[in-house]
Amino acid sequence: MEREVLFRIRRFDGDKSYWQDFRFTAKRGMTVLDGLYYIKENLDGSLAFRASCRMGVCGSCAVKINGKPRLACETQILDIGSTLEIEPLDNMPVLKDLIVDMDDFFRKHEAVKPYLMREDDDYENPKELLQTPKELHAYYDFTLCIKCGACYSACPASATRSDYLGPAAITAAYRFCADSRDEGKEERLSLVSGSEGVWRCHFNAECSEVCPKSIEPAKAVQKMRLMSAIHMIKSIFR
Ligand code: SF4
Ligand code: FES
Repeated sequence: MEREVLFRIRRFDGDKSYWQDFRFTAKRGMTVLDGLYYIKENLDGSLAFRASCRMGVCGSCAVKINGKPRLACETQILDIGSTLEIEPLDNMPVLKDLIVDMDDFFRKHEAVKPYLMREDDDYENPKELLQTPKELHAYYDFTLCIKCGACYSACPASATRSDYLGPAAITAAYRFCADSRDEGKEERLSLVSGSEGVWRCHFNAECSEVCPKSIEPAKAVQKMRLMSAIHMIKSIFR
């Protein structure tokens, strides 16, 4: 099966933003990323986009397709229709065409200390930290984040407040706060309980709607809110 399709791509050359149309024949099995490579190799070599793994693992190919953030490498062209409007993600500055500047997104991720914190850290003599299957299950789903930025792009709170940590960073914070091996929960909760943290979320849940890994960042934000409330009450009586 094949069909003539129209890719309307939102381009940016550093000065101006404009739409450019490309028509080609899409074959069954062709992803949106395959379509972008087809255009780059056959129609316009100046088209800029990010991609690496081509298999939904690296998170670098997220773009908006007909208004919704998706992974280009996991989206079948023929499943979408005959006209595909492709734009860069929202809530991040556009550098060129479909490439956005993710520095702020990753800075926020780093700010929540997304790693195990322990008193007995000794990298010279690492020791095994045991965990039951139940303890693993408490946070496992949230380890699957590929940092694609789709949730951040869809988040209305990130759109209105550039200092909001955003759903991906808070999900990373929850993943470690819920880990039985971690001892940095109180420190991390102090980092996410401020005005730019969990209480900024509108609970619109768009983030969970678009996450290509079905992680439910909105659930992580709610769980962090509960932890944050307990943390704040405890700190009053300390
Ligand atoms: S939570 Fe989902 S949408 Fe957000 S960055 Fe991680 S994988 Fe992407
Ligand atoms: S190219 Fe790696 S997730 Fe799409």
